[in-house]
Amino acid sequence: MRRAVADKTTAFQRCISSECGATYAIEEVLVACSRCGDLLDVDYRWDALEVPASLGSLEASWARRRDPRCYSGVWRFHSLLPFCAADAIVTAGEGQTLFQCADGVAKYVDLNPGRLFLQYEGMNPSGSFKDNGMAAAFTHARMTGARHAACASTGNTSASLAMYCAVTRLMKAVVFVGSGKISYGKLSQALDYGALTVQIAGDFDDAMVRVREVCDTLGIYLVNSVNPFRLEGQKSIMFRVLESLRWEPPDWIVVPGGNLGNSSAFGKAFAELKQLGLLQRVPRLAVINAAGADTLYQLYDRRNMRWNQGSVDMRVAENYYRRLDEEQKKASTIASAIEINRPVNFRKCLRALEVCDGVVRRVSDQEILDAKAQVGLGGVGCEPASAASVAGARLLRTEGVIGPDDRVVCILTGHQLKDPTATVAYHTTDQEQFNKVLGSRGVRRASFANRAVAVANDLGEIVKAIRLYG
Ligand code: F0G
Repeated sequence: MRRAVADKTTAFQRCISSECGATYAIEEVLVACSRCGDLLDVDYRWDALEVPASLGSLEASWARRRDPRCYSGVWRFHSLLPFCAADAIVTAGEGQTLFQCADGVAKYVDLNPGRLFLQYEGMNPSGSFKDNGMAAAFTHARMTGARHAACASTGNTSASLAMYCAVTRLMKAVVFVGSGKISYGKLSQALDYGALTVQIAGDFDDAMVRVREVCDTLGIYLVNSVNPFRLEGQKSIMFRVLESLRWEPPDWIVVPGGNLGNSSAFGKAFAELKQLGLLQRVPRLAVINAAGADTLYQLYDRRNMRWNQGSVDMRVAENYYRRLDEEQKKASTIASAIEINRPVNFRKCLRALEVCDGVVRRVSDQEILDAKAQVGLGGVGCEPASAASVAGARLLRTEGVIGPDDRVVCILTGHQLKDPTATVAYHTTDQEQFNKVLGSRGVRRASFANRAVAVANDLGEIVKAIRLYG
């Protein structure tokens, strides 16, 4: 008989290397293959599992939403990430996100009305898409009896981990951030939720190396996206996008690329839906780097690295990283969430780009902030990294890669209030503030600035100002 959720024989972890392919039990705590060091997938024997008869049938769980597991935008798709029993599930109400048809932004991107959609992940409880993955990683952590969980972060993973620890009281959070590298919105969350917050003198790439060592040394559960369970949760972003489009896949998914967890998860989601016969056509994937943190662009677009069904010539990447080290080149962008030069999921992302016939582009901080202002004007608002998706879609329209009538979904990964410093500096009349925050990043102008009007505390003056500017 087919099982609703997996047991030891139907769900396992598997090394993504086609030459290795080693498998491990679900309960094992691993962030790399013990045999060859490559990344791991959560894999299933789908033929022995109860899979949905159609994508539409997944909607039934919403009617049972008084059960928190059906309310969750991750776990109502449990049958597509069936690595745990229903009673093992941890949820904090994640995944109640917004899918918006945004004609104002479509105009900016040069798409026809009705063709551009924003998937707003800032609606998650901690304000970013990370909660999708954290719900799954936390569930796995609890299954393994973990008492502490840690991450390195540009701010959102740490906020999410800290929140799950605070809400569930199941574990203690230890978060590593680069000193001065994360926005105040995100730092304030980790502090408020009570996480042990370690600010190291270095950037995200440095923190990532350290947190792995610390987790190894102290036996702490690591929740960065090298953890394959994180990516299982993040597949649900695509399930919700498809659901919002009545299960009709769009032409394009456009997503910012940092550590490349999302893009990897999206590719896995589509590969599995296709394998299960639930989806006939897979959308194309565009991954957008910030120009100051453009490793994926350099390796995929400029040096032509490809997944090639798993036989990747990693020497090209190794040479690239060696040069970064020699030149002491560090990632640098106003989109601090994606200020990453050594994306841990690089190989999985290559695989996703193969599955989804993907493209990679990079956009400047100027383009990111202008796109962000346009998103804000549409009434949703996002943090800088998220707007890379919109800036990237615009670039791909200019190139003619995306057609004017294509249906495009841009993923807005984080909430507008995560990084008010960047937003206020963009709209400010204070040149000094502009220069300090943005000029130093090569941003020259705020094309869509909405400047505050300074006025005396006097009714007559206020009325005059409103008449003048209103
Ligand atoms: N957008 C936001 C708002 C992010 O916080 C991140 C990553 C990304 C995009 C990139 O996503 O890594 O899946 O390619 N933030 C991580 C963090 C690194 O620590 O919060 P990715």
